[in-house]
Amino acid sequence: MDLIYTSSLEGITPEQLEGFFVGWPNPPSPQTHLRILKGSSHVVLALDGERVVGFVNAISDGVLSAYIPLLEVLPPYQGRGVGSELMRRMLEQLEGFYMADLPCEPELAPFYERFGMRRAAGMFLRNYARQAGS
Ligand SMILES: CC(C)(COP(=O)(O)OP(=O)(O)OC[C@H]1O[C@@H](n2cnc3c(N)ncnc32)[C@H](O)[C@@H]1OP(=O)(O)O)[C@@H](O)C(=O)NCCC(=O)NCCS
Repeated sequence: MDLIYTSSLEGITPEQLEGFFVGWPNPPSPQTHLRILKGSSHVVLALDGERVVGFVNAISDGVLSAYIPLLEVLPPYQGRGVGSELMRRMLEQLEGFYMADLPCEPELAPFYERFGMRRAAGMFLRNYARQAGS
């Protein structure tokens, strides 16, 4: 499988972003997904031809901290190292920051530990009425 990894959103259209947010009751549309990516400080995409098959984004203050809100690989592409490559490339981009944080379910912790990340407790708020974006 020859995937291309890129941090550029140039030329990316909503049509290339179909199929993400699997299992979300009220998912962002592909148009909103593109807005999310454009509003992020850091992005890595995995492309199979024209189709985006995986992505990760980060939001940063540009000085100390970065937060990784979303990482997803389309189901048919999972389990082939795509998520790992996206994370590896993202953490490389965030290397200069003091902190890079992300919340995850406990069962995914071993996946993130592979990249040297450590477990921590955290707190969060969710406004489910805004799950599709504001
Ligand atoms: C998590 C995710 C990004 C991993 O991407 P991927 O391309 O399948 O990952 P890789 O092929 O690089 O690595 C697979 C490893 O991830 C781990 N993994 C993936 N999903 C997992 C899950 N739900 N629970 C536990 N481990 C999981 C497995 O341990 C697997 O290990 P293996 O290589 O020993 O089989 C992908 O499963 C996904 O998109 N899941 C849905 C969205 C999601 O949960 N995102 C993370 C939000 S914190």
